[in-house]
Amino acid sequence: MRFETKVVHTGVHKDQQYNSVITPIYPSSTFYWNDLETNSGYDYTRSGNPTRDALNENLAALEGGVGCVTTSTGMSAVHCAMAIFNPGDHIVVPADVYGGTFRLFSQFLTEKGLSFTFVDMTDIDAVKAAVQPATKGFWIETPSNPMMKVIDLAAIVEIAKQNKAVTICDNTFLSPYLQRPLEFGVDVVMHSTTKYINGHSDVVGGAVISKDKELGDRMAWICNALGLACSPYDAWLVLRGVKTLGCRMDAQQANAMKIARFLDGHPLVETVYYPGLESHPQHELAKSQQQGFGAMLSFDVKDGRPVAERVCMNSKLFDVAESLGGVESLISFPVTMSHASMSPEGRQAAGITEKTVRVSVGLEHADDLIEDLKQALDS
Ligand SMILES: Cc1ncc(COP(=O)(O)O)c(C=O)c1O
Repeated sequence: MRFETKVVHTGVHKDQQYNSVITPIYPSSTFYWNDLETNSGYDYTRSGNPTRDALNENLAALEGGVGCVTTSTGMSAVHCAMAIFNPGDHIVVPADVYGGTFRLFSQFLTEKGLSFTFVDMTDIDAVKAAVQPATKGFWIETPSNPMMKVIDLAAIVEIAKQNKAVTICDNTFLSPYLQRPLEFGVDVVMHSTTKYINGHSDVVGGAVISKDKELGDRMAWICNALGLACSPYDAWLVLRGVKTLGCRMDAQQANAMKIARFLDGHPLVETVYYPGLESHPQHELAKSQQQGFGAMLSFDVKDGRPVAERVCMNSKLFDVAESLGGVESLISFPVTMSHASMSPEGRQAAGITEKTVRVSVGLEHADDLIEDLKQALDS
């Protein structure tokens, strides 16, 4: 089956009694046993639930993985994936990783005995130099948030294999419609399903998809042991959202391309970070490992914070809000919003400054969005 068919059909038929076309929500926390040895395959919703399984099967198929667990938030998915490591293990991470991931790694997991090196992962020599005898993992986020740096998946996988380390890729920004890291040899993919996979800004959730049964079983064990799984209601919403992933992505990235070109030509804009622009340093790499450029972009304005603040506060169609990937356009100021949980030194190393504005481009008409940004910049 092709992607557009899989999103609609995979996993959804769970009602063999009434043949409902749409997966029912099974809110039951527990399931009765037939006798003391046998049950329906489900006994308790933390461990397994038919609605959640429908979503798990769907997302595993979209990423081309073997096992999937879906969790209460994207951060619980990050936590689930990271729970395969042990105290003493060292993990290499991109310097401009999502702020919440940075906080979890640099504070909580560091306190628990893991160690991390944050590097510019577009610099393969820097990645190689970051490897230590204790290196057990490589965390990849591509394109990165918010600087839209594209990391070479195959190159990182090669370094990881040489060091017998696991690769985990946060694929939130592109979704499996535009990038499937497992095809490049990555071991585990994670998502904040809050973003494009759900796509309607009305649920928070996460997913961890593994390349093989062994890792998939381990993630399922961790998810159950730590109690990270999402509720059947949330699973149902995400399953409903994912069915339109392809068409939403097509329309949103077409808008993003037009906005990137507009911003690129605006006198108050210093730099546009969008892999779809020929001037983007990893444009060719993005073309080779992605099926599209996505609908996230950032830009640096001239004159710093006053202009950044003006464009955020004067835009009328872009709500000033964190998050991304919904059908509505959002604008944000990473320094005080998505990346506030990153240390000032971390932000400096990642190139996130008071000039930087991030945009999640929605499904509105591109001309309306461009007119709005124009009046906000020029006001
Ligand atoms: C790239 C990325 N990964 C992970 C997360 C965390 O997801 P959640 O907010 O659903 O916990 C986010 C949230 O913005 C994100 O942008």
